[in-house]
Amino acid sequence: MVKSLETPPVELLKPGVKAPVQETLLTPRFYTTDFNAVAKLDISGHEAEIRAVVDELKADYNRHHFVRDDEFKQSWNHIPGEKRLAFIDFLERSCTSEFSGFLLFKELSRRIKYSNPLLSEAFEYLARDEARHAGFLNKAMGDFSLSLDLSYLTKNRSYTFFPPDWVIYTVYLSEKIGYWRYILVYRHMAENPEFQFYPLFRKFESWCQDENRHGDFFKALLRSQPQLWNNWKARLWVRFFLLTVFVTHTITVFERANFYEILGIHPRKYNNQVITETNKTAARAFPTILNTDHPYFFWYLEQCAINNQKLIAINNSKKWGIVKLFQKIPLMQNILWYMLKLYLIKPINAEKARETVY
Ligand SMILES: [Fe+2]
Ligand SMILES: [Fe+2]
Repeated sequence: MVKSLETPPVELLKPGVKAPVQETLLTPRFYTTDFNAVAKLDISGHEAEIRAVVDELKADYNRHHFVRDDEFKQSWNHIPGEKRLAFIDFLERSCTSEFSGFLLFKELSRRIKYSNPLLSEAFEYLARDEARHAGFLNKAMGDFSLSLDLSYLTKNRSYTFFPPDWVIYTVYLSEKIGYWRYILVYRHMAENPEFQFYPLFRKFESWCQDENRHGDFFKALLRSQPQLWNNWKARLWVRFFLLTVFVTHTITVFERANFYEILGIHPRKYNNQVITETNKTAARAFPTILNTDHPYFFWYLEQCAINNQKLIAINNSKKWGIVKLFQKIPLMQNILWYMLKLYLIKPINAEKARETVY
């Protein structure tokens, strides 16, 4: 059974400005990379394809989309307690991860401006879109008399270093999973308008096309670097990144099951569909994808989420630190054990199916 944890009350940094959630392995992270190595990426053999994707980004189809129309101009005080807190939590996490993308793309664009102008131009468009997305979400938080201090976040969050190869794999996946997350919520809301308690969800259809285009850019970049897909090491890495993204997604969806239930979305079905579709989409870029049809695939993923919920319950308990630690160790071992079992499920060769799948 999907069990959600209680949502804590909103903590403030100063009046009207929400204190950022405590950083954990699962909160959206901020990234930095080896900018010189990105500048040196040789894309000469694939310039035409990358140019075509960059031209799509340049067209800026959504330049008039992120407008707060009349529907937003009303009071939202009628949205009650738990629903309100769960929605604010969703807005904050989404805003932080959009803003994290903005910071990375902006810095990439700036640092490789003269050494790799085509990629720099692409990153500039990506940063433009993510700034819009983050800004729109932050304004939505404003409707609930809160905002995120993005400059405080920029200065005070820790930055995780990822080498360029990891950035390409993980950003590709996060753009594509972002696409599926938004489009599935949008389709659900279109079919069940009674759950549309705030107009943000109406914006998701065009919004997710931005994420789709971002993903397509990273796909073109990834395929321009044969070492990222044509050897056994690459095949092992992509399995690892698919797995970690899917485990993280499952854990976060189950942890926030109440939010999805408020939207009228079945958390388990939503999680399974997002993962199945993202995995299928990844067959266009990655040499290998995971076998989501394996009878234990989603069961193993859920075991990770269940063990994580037990970890959170221990963290929130009033026991001594050392007692907590001893109680947590077997649960962490369980998560790693199920991740290993998932990793060892025979993957699917995507190179073979490339021309026919999506
Ligand atoms: Fe975005
Ligand atoms: Fe994006």
